[in-house]
Amino acid sequence: MPRTIRLVEPHDGAIRWGIAATGRIAGDFATAFTQVDARENASIAAVGSRSSATADAFAAEHDIARAHPSYRELAADPEVDIVYVASLQPGHVSDAITMLEHGKHVLVEKPFTLSATEAGQIFDAAEANDRFAMEAMWMRFSPGPVEAVRRVHAGEIGAVQHMDIDFTIQVADDPEHRLRSLEKGGGALLDLGIYPVTLAWWIAGPPTSWTVEGDVKNGVDTTCVIEAEWDGITARLSCGLDQAGPLAATIRGIDGVLELPAPFHAANRFRIDGGESHRFAPASLHHQVYEVHRCIRAGVAESPRNPWATTRAILTMCDEIRAELGVVYPTET
Ligand SMILES: NC(=O)c1ccc[n+]([C@@H]2O[C@H](COP(=O)([O-])OP(=O)(O)OC[C@H]3O[C@@H](n4cnc5c(N)ncnc54)[C@H](OP(=O)(O)O)[C@@H]3O)[C@@H](O)[C@H]2O)c1
Repeated sequence: MPRTIRLVEPHDGAIRWGIAATGRIAGDFATAFTQVDARENASIAAVGSRSSATADAFAAEHDIARAHPSYRELAADPEVDIVYVASLQPGHVSDAITMLEHGKHVLVEKPFTLSATEAGQIFDAAEANDRFAMEAMWMRFSPGPVEAVRRVHAGEIGAVQHMDIDFTIQVADDPEHRLRSLEKGGGALLDLGIYPVTLAWWIAGPPTSWTVEGDVKNGVDTTCVIEAEWDGITARLSCGLDQAGPLAATIRGIDGVLELPAPFHAANRFRIDGGESHRFAPASLHHQVYEVHRCIRAGVAESPRNPWATTRAILTMCDEIRAELGVVYPTET
């Protein structure tokens, strides 16, 4: 049962968003936000960046009224209700807590944090300040994956027996690339593997056991293959930075096979038993916004579709996998 708490101030009026950071995903979010239905009565009111020049440029590009030269000044903006935290993962814990302590709700990019301990710190701050918090695990809200999981849960392929889910891509062999840099929170597992692990968890819940093999270069995991088991289910969950992989999800049940094609986490179609593709609205970062609004307006601090306990439990599993591989972030030493 997802835990909910009543917020101090239920929001019945407009919802005003702020964006913390001006990188790639922040821009994608601002672009996707233009698809949010006008009846939602919501807007992006402000952006914050570590520099005024990038804040100003982002605000101009996305037609945002106010640009703040720091995340702290964004946090202090009284005309912002919720902040989308789109900084690099080592910053998520402090950036999100700063927002919560200034009375903002938060939607925090994936991976929510580097560790389960940090995730707990954000949830504690959300609870202490009666504010909403959620990991921006957009896959959980995009129509294709949502319907695929619904059909698996409805029994269309029978009891699940095996899952093969991959998120392997070719990343430039540059130690400064954020996925290859320990200081920037890099590593295949937290940046890419979080999707296969989350999809498997969404379908089958927490695994009863798992083993992992992987490669580590310059302190970060460059490949990671998890063999997981549940009662009657096995899974191979893979991710990596060194080659273009299938990026697909195959879910085998006793009565059929469901295939989400590449990229599975953002697929707008899937097939059952090799039949005709079922097609859905494209995956987009704006679908999760509806759930955030619903929760804030209902006065609940967490979404039952992406509850705190699940975010924390998945990060606990990632902590244990990283411990096996020997990946330790600078903030953990
Ligand atoms: N949902 C998705 O599909 C998806 C896709 C890609 C990434 N992500 C996640 O989104 C987050 C941001 O990724 P991104 O691809 O947008 O990265 P990015 O393009 O490198 O941008 C990251 C932004 O974070 C801010 N930042 C704060 N501290 C920083 C530091 N020490 N070094 C560099 N930048 C810093 C910067 O904004 P300012 O200069 O404005 O402060 C920068 O522009 C990550 O957690 C990533 O895992 C999600």
